[in-house]
Amino acid sequence: MKFFLDTANIEEIKKANDWGLLDGVTTNPTLVAKTGKPFLKVAEEIIKILGPERPVSLEVVATDYNGMVNQARELAKLGPNVAVKIPMTPEGIKAVKTLTKEGIKTNVTLVFSPMQALLAAKAGATYVSPFVGRLDDISMEGMKLIEEIVAIYSAYGFTTKIIVASVRHPEHVRQAALLGADIATVPFGVLEKLFKHPLTDIGLERFLKDWNSLPEDFKPKFLK
Ligand code: G3P
Repeated sequence: MKFFLDTANIEEIKKANDWGLLDGVTTNPTLVAKTGKPFLKVAEEIIKILGPERPVSLEVVATDYNGMVNQARELAKLGPNVAVKIPMTPEGIKAVKTLTKEGIKTNVTLVFSPMQALLAAKAGATYVSPFVGRLDDISMEGMKLIEEIVAIYSAYGFTTKIIVASVRHPEHVRQAALLGADIATVPFGVLEKLFKHPLTDIGLERFLKDWNSLPEDFKPKFLK
C-alpha cells in the first residue's frame, strides 16, 4: 500500500520524504489556504520535492465542465506528476472523460458512495478519493465504503486506484491495508502515529539499560 501525505505543508512533506515514506501528496483548497502562501509557490515547491514520478494532486475550483477542463490543463502543465482533483459531479465526470482522453491524470474527489466510485472508474479516472473520516463523522461506516469499492473494482478489473482519504487515525490505515486499498493519504500527525507502540519504547529503553550495565571493556568501540 502506498502512503500519500494529505497536506500542503512543505515542512511536513520534507520530513515524510526524509523518512523514505512518501509515495505522493494530495492537497485540496482548504489545505492550501492553511499554508497562508500563494497557490503556485506551494504547488511548485511540492512538485519539485516529489520529482517526476510521485504524484501530486492539485484541485480545480471551477464547477462547470469548461472551467474544470481549462483549469485542469493549466494544473497539468505544472509537472508530469500532477493529478488533477475533480469533484464528483456530473460536470466533473464529463471533465474526467475528456481529460483522460488527453492523457491528464485525474483524482475524483468528494466521493461518499460506491456508485460515485463506479462512475469515476467508468469515466477513466486515474484515482478515486473516498472520504472515510467525514462519513464516520455523520455516524456512517467510512471503511465499509472502501470495502465495497474494492469489491466493485476487482469484480470488473477497473484500473482506477483507490485513495483512502479523510483519514483521521491509524485504525483507518490498518483497515485500508487489510482491505487492499491501493493508497492511504494521511495527515502528517497520523503518519507519525503509525511508528508508535508503547512496547517498542519500553523494549528499547530496556535494551539500552542492559547494554549500558556491561563493563566498558566488554563493548567494542563501534558499539559505544
Ligand atoms: O484531501 C481530502 C481529504 O483527505 C480531506 O480530509 O480531514 O478534511 O475530511 P478531511
